[in-house]
Amino acid sequence: MPLLPVLEGLHSAEAFDPAFLQAFLDRVRRLEVDPDGFRDSLRGRIVATVFEEPSTRTRLSFEAAAHRLGAGVITVADPKTSSRAKGESLRDSARIIGGYADLIVWRHPCDGASRLAAQAAAVPVVNAGDGRLGHPTQTLVDLYTLNQAWGGFEGRTVGILGDLAFGRTARSLLWGLTLLGARVVALPAPGLDWEAGFEDRVAERAGYRTVRVSHPMFRSWTGSEEARLLEPRGVRQGTLFGDGPPRLERLDALYLTRLQEERGAVAERGVYPGLRPWQLEDPLLADCLFLHPLPRRGELPESVDEDRRARYFEQARNGPVVRAALFLALLRPDSWQLPPLVSLPAGSPEPDLGPCPNPGCITRSEGIRAPWRVAGRRHRVFLCAYCDTRIPVEYVGCRSSRRVHPLHSPAVLQIRPENLRPYRSRDEALADGYVWGGG
Ligand code: CP
Repeated sequence: MPLLPVLEGLHSAEAFDPAFLQAFLDRVRRLEVDPDGFRDSLRGRIVATVFEEPSTRTRLSFEAAAHRLGAGVITVADPKTSSRAKGESLRDSARIIGGYADLIVWRHPCDGASRLAAQAAAVPVVNAGDGRLGHPTQTLVDLYTLNQAWGGFEGRTVGILGDLAFGRTARSLLWGLTLLGARVVALPAPGLDWEAGFEDRVAERAGYRTVRVSHPMFRSWTGSEEARLLEPRGVRQGTLFGDGPPRLERLDALYLTRLQEERGAVAERGVYPGLRPWQLEDPLLADCLFLHPLPRRGELPESVDEDRRARYFEQARNGPVVRAALFLALLRPDSWQLPPLVSLPAGSPEPDLGPCPNPGCITRSEGIRAPWRVAGRRHRVFLCAYCDTRIPVEYVGCRSSRRVHPLHSPAVLQIRPENLRPYRSRDEALADGYVWGGG
């Protein structure tokens, strides 16, 4: 099976693992207490920041981090000023900019853009937010902020509230929190939940299960008193009284997110959930830290700013030191070695499984084939290798045995990844000379 090379840089929070995250958070702390010790670590290096969407925190904190480490910075702060406005492809732009800089930080409106840019550039690319898909360096900032307060994640319960469908910070944070052992309550605004399969994929990777919990406050956020709680397998459930899911007694943190109107998100009946003054007195939130990636809208009123539980300005302040640690990890592995990121395969373009079903995928705007990758230990799922959208594969052949099986057949789990041959229909497989292997 032709596999494209593994991508260099940081493109998804799926690339984190617990050892990397723990070591990374320790390193950020070292950098924070001894900034002078690292002041010229990147002298002579050049970082490019390419932002094809607006940004205040991400771009400026990356640039501040580069300056503090002695690197030079070149930037495209507005895509209208670059040749992208003349129709240059992302791949050509990445190839050119990769010739001018040692690392590129890229923000783009399409899902999977940083992965595609990384294939074209000869230098590492860091995803500074791609469409609705991910914002992994924001997750590093979020985790560092929580770790400062808690010193660890086990036993902590974090609610993620708002636009889960289009909010890239929420999606990335789910990976990070579960990999570090926190419990997560999904609190989607009505009609704005994660797509089917995403939460299961994260839970399987982290060794988590999903149970239901309840609290009356949830109704004002999601429309239901019940919510999904993701927790490590083996955690003992609290005592259940009577019928229905157990009541959640406390949240240790609430991660609020804004409605992503620029991606077409719409609040059902014009109402979007947020923190309301009456909720601040509820025992559920008694010791709950409030985080928000910002910018905020009405979901997080300014009246909360002076509350002892508010952490969102501190969170934004942590941006430069966290991003400086990432620069050191990627550009100075000689003196700043960390456990490796989990490799995200760039996928196989063969066979052509048709266009990616996600209209926001970078393959659609660049007019290229969608390579696929396979995920899932209990059930194979085939994903667009750029945007992680599930590709409608129904049958899977084994290139060595030449047998084809339905996707959910146990036989498919036995096929080595390099021998997988996905099909959208059984007839296509039979026409290719495969024989029916049954389910
Ligand atoms: N949190 C965040 O990504 O903010 P900006 O859009 O201002 O970069």
